[in-house]
Amino acid sequence: MQLTRRSMLVAMGLASAWAATPLAALARSIGKRADAPFIEALIAKMTLEEKAGQLTLLPSAWGGSKAAQFNPPGNGQSFDQQVADAVAGKLTGVFNGNGAEMARRMQHAVMTQSRLGIPLMFAADVIHGHRTLFPLPLGEAASFEPELAERTARAAAFEAAGAGIDWTFAPMVDIARDQRWGRVMEGTGEDILLGSLFAAARVRGFQGDDLTADDAMLACPKHFAAYGAAEAGLDYNTVDISERTLREVYLPPFKASFDAGALTTMASFNEISGVPSTANKWLMTDLLRGEWKFPGMVVSDYTGDEELIMHGFAEDGKDAARLSILAGVDMSMASNLYMMHLPALVREGLVPESQVDESVRRVLTIKAVLGLFDDPFRRIDPAREAKRSMTAQNIALAREAGRKSIVMLRNEGGVLPLPLSSKVALIGPFAEGPHDLIGGWAVYGDDAQAVDLATGMRKAGGTVTVAEGCGVETPVPGGIEAALEAATGADVVVLSLGEAQTMSGEAQSRTDIIVPRVQQELAEAVAKLGKPMVVVLRNGRALALEGVIRDAQAILVTWYLGTESGTAIADILYGSHSPSGRLPVSFPYDTGQQPFHYDRKRTGRPQPPGPRVDYKAQFREVPNEALFPFGHGLTYGEVRYGDLHLDGQVLPWDGAVTVSATVTNSGSHAIEEVAQFYIHDRVASVTRPVRQLVAFDKVALAPDQTKTVSFRLDRSMLEFYGLDEKPVVEPGEFDLWIAPSAQAEGASGKIRLTA
Ligand code: GLC
Repeated sequence: MQLTRRSMLVAMGLASAWAATPLAALARSIGKRADAPFIEALIAKMTLEEKAGQLTLLPSAWGGSKAAQFNPPGNGQSFDQQVADAVAGKLTGVFNGNGAEMARRMQHAVMTQSRLGIPLMFAADVIHGHRTLFPLPLGEAASFEPELAERTARAAAFEAAGAGIDWTFAPMVDIARDQRWGRVMEGTGEDILLGSLFAAARVRGFQGDDLTADDAMLACPKHFAAYGAAEAGLDYNTVDISERTLREVYLPPFKASFDAGALTTMASFNEISGVPSTANKWLMTDLLRGEWKFPGMVVSDYTGDEELIMHGFAEDGKDAARLSILAGVDMSMASNLYMMHLPALVREGLVPESQVDESVRRVLTIKAVLGLFDDPFRRIDPAREAKRSMTAQNIALAREAGRKSIVMLRNEGGVLPLPLSSKVALIGPFAEGPHDLIGGWAVYGDDAQAVDLATGMRKAGGTVTVAEGCGVETPVPGGIEAALEAATGADVVVLSLGEAQTMSGEAQSRTDIIVPRVQQELAEAVAKLGKPMVVVLRNGRALALEGVIRDAQAILVTWYLGTESGTAIADILYGSHSPSGRLPVSFPYDTGQQPFHYDRKRTGRPQPPGPRVDYKAQFREVPNEALFPFGHGLTYGEVRYGDLHLDGQVLPWDGAVTVSATVTNSGSHAIEEVAQFYIHDRVASVTRPVRQLVAFDKVALAPDQTKTVSFRLDRSMLEFYGLDEKPVVEPGEFDLWIAPSAQAEGASGKIRLTA
C-alpha cells in the first residue's frame, strides 16, 4: 500500500471541488429534511434567544462518567436544570456525558416539550477509542498505516455512536515538533505527510460513508490552528510563526481533513502572532471559508472565547462573544457566552443578525446532515449500546493496532525475541496493575478492563517474576532490594519504565523529557547485575533517554497501547510477531535540543558528518541530530537496501520518473519494512528542509525475500510555499533517498527537474 504526498494532493484536488459545494447542497444530497428551504423556514421562526441557544454547547451535567475529570460539569447545573434549559432552547447539545440513557432522557424532553422541537446533538472526546481503547494516536502513527487508523476510528464510532454520541472532538491533527508539549500524545507527531494522511484516515473512519448512519460520528479536526507550535512546548503558550510556516507545516492536516469530508473544526486556545484563534477573522473566515470554501461549522475550544479576556484581546464576556462570532466561530463551548450576550449584541447593532443566522444555518444543517431531524433517536438505544461495547472483533483490532504501534529502537545481540522458556524478572512501576494502560484521553475507558504487561506475558506462556522496584516518580521502600532479588534469579530482565499517562496530555508540558530519575536509579542498580536487559518504555512523547536505559541491549517504545496493551507487547517480546513500528517523532539526545524535527533547515553552517568541527550549528554537548530519528524502527532480522534506480536521469516539468530500490529481509523472521521516500531541494527561492518525506511504502518480507519498492516522482511532490506565500515548484537538483529513517542513507541518488 503506497501512500504519497501526490496521492494526497490529488485527493485534495478532487475533494476540494466537492468542498466548494455549499453545506446546504450537501445536506440536500443526503436527505429530504436537510434541504435549505426547511432550514430557512425554521430560522424564520426562531427568536434571538433560540438562535443563541443553538450556538451554545455545554459540558454534560450528567454525573457518573470520568468525563467530569476532563470537564467540570457545566456551570454547576444539575442534570434536571440542564434538561429544563434544553427544553427552553438554551443549548444546542452537551458534550462528555455518559451513555444512551442520558441522551434519551434529554432528547425525549426536548422533542416533546420544546417550542420548536430542534433535536439536541451529543458530543464527546472519543480520541482513540470509546469503551475499547486503541493505542494513543501518536503510538498508532508509528504503524505508518493510515488504513489501520481508519479501522480503529471506525470501531470507535461503532461503539460511541452506539452510546448516543453524534460528534467526536477528534482527530487531533496538530503537528508537534517540541516534545516538551504534553499534547504531542494526541496527534501524529512531527511530519506533515504522515500527519495529513492519518488525519484524513481518521476522519473517514469516524464518519464512515453515510453520516446519517447509526454508527457514524461527525469528526472535528482540531485545534485550528498551530496549537502545537506553542513556544517552549508550554501548553496554551504564544505561537509566533510566519504565514509560510503556518501554511506549509500546520495547515495541511486540516486541509486534508476537510477534503476527507470533515464538517466541523475546533478553534485553538493559542494566539497566532498576536491574534487569538478564537477571534481570528483571517483564519476563521478569510482562509477557512474564503480561500478553502469550508462549508462546515467552527466550535470554540473549552471557554476559548471567554479566554479572549485573559489574552487581553476582549474587554469582557460580551466583547469576547462579539469578537468570536464576528471572526467566524459559530458555536461557543462551555462558557455560555453566546447564550448570555448574543441577543443583546444583535439588539444593540454590534453583531448583525445575518451573522448569527449564518451560524445557526450551519448548525441546523449539520444536525440535518447527521439525520437528527429525520430521527432524533437514531444513535440512542441503551440496549444496542451494551451489545456494541468491547466486542471480540474490537478487542482483536486493539491487539493488532497495539502490536503495530510498537517501535524497537535497539536489539543488540538479538536479545529479542525472548524464548518462552526464559525466566523473566519484570521490574518497574509499569510491570503490572490496572494503570497507565489505556492512555491519557480515555473518557469512557477503564484501565481495569485492560491487560497489563505481566498478565500479557503470562497469557503468552511466559515465566515472569514481578518486582515494582520503585514508583513512577518516588522510591518504594525496599523496592530496589526486591528488584535485585528478582533479577538475580532470572535469565533476563525486562524493565517496564517511563511516564505515567498523566505526565502527558493537556496542560502536562515537561521541562525535562526524561525517564524520571527514581526509575533511572532502579535501572542503574539492576544493570550492575550484568543480566541481559530489555527496556519497555511507557510514554506519551519522545523521550531523551539517558544512562543504562539508553544503553540497554534492547529498547521497545510502547506508548500507551490501550485495552490490549499487555498482550500486544507480549506478542512482540516473545516473537509471535516482529516489531514493525517506526518513530513518528524524533528521540533527541537531550531535552535541550527541543524543538527538534528531522525536516529542519541546513542553516549557513551545517554540522558536517564525521568529527566535530568548530563554528558549526551544533551544541557543545550533543550533535545536531536525533539519537533515534524520525522513521527509525528495527525488526527481527536485517533489512538491506540496494542501489537507487531511476527510469530517467531528468524529471521533465510535466512528466514523472519512477524511483525504486530493492529491500531484502536477510533474517529468519517474517517482517514488515517501511521504506521511506525523502527529497531535498538543493537550491530554491526559499530555504528548504534537509529532508522531506514525500511517500512511504510498508512492505511485508518473508525470510530471505527481496522486493523492489517503487515511487512515482512528479513535480507536485516538490511543491513548497514561495516568497508570495503561494504554492510553487522550481526547476533544479533534488537529492533523493529511499531509506529506513530520516537519518539513514538507504538507497540514495539525485535528479534534475527541468522547466
Ligand atoms: C479541552 C481540549 C479539547 C477538548 C475540549 C472538550 O480543553 O482542548 O481538545 O476537545 O476541551 O473536552
